[in-house]
Amino acid sequence: MTSKLSILGIAGSLREGSYNKAILRAAQEMVPAGAQLEIFDLAGIPPFNQDTEMEPAEKVKEFKAAIRAADALLIATPEYNYSMPGVLKNALDCASRPYGDNVLDGKPVAIMGASIGMLGTARAQYHLRQSCVFLNMYPLNSPEVMVPFAHEKIDDTGRLTDRKTTEHIASLLEALVTWTRRLKSEG
Ligand code: FNR
Repeated sequence: MTSKLSILGIAGSLREGSYNKAILRAAQEMVPAGAQLEIFDLAGIPPFNQDTEMEPAEKVKEFKAAIRAADALLIATPEYNYSMPGVLKNALDCASRPYGDNVLDGKPVAIMGASIGMLGTARAQYHLRQSCVFLNMYPLNSPEVMVPFAHEKIDDTGRLTDRKTTEHIASLLEALVTWTRRLKSEG
């Protein structure tokens, strides 16, 4: 029997009513049978300062430990000014340092994102994928889950109500589990 895969979910928004937090919670409800999804809240990760990278804040230690323990990541990114939010970029910077202790190295990752605009975070996702190259992560190429007009698909209680988006996220999770198992068997 194969063991359960652990997926760590990260939303690149601190906003309480975040649409990206909402799609992560939706993902949590449809994780495939052989996997589990825990969500890590980025609130409290301080701005990265290379002067103090050898003595990271407790929250950064917690974040790095959670990544280390996970078999794969699922990132839900908003789009800010055609890129990923600073909060997410900062968290990735913290997780990648100090030099030689990049906990993102070799991690499979699935990316999705929700925005109120018509491109559903496409530009932010491609910037995030660019960072994945330097971080030596293994991003899943397909399917791409871009959720445009999120305010029409997530209700006031933060629940995803759109059937097609729900199906896309379910496909992404299935593909992430297959991708992660494949990488583990080859590693
Ligand atoms: C935005 N928003 C936005 N939307 C988009 O589709 N493309 C963009 O470039 C931007 N830029 C942008 C910059 C800043 C600073 C803010 C605050 C917002 C709108 C964005 O999609 C919307 O605020 C989402 O609700 C953010 O995601 P969360 O917080 O709901 O997860």
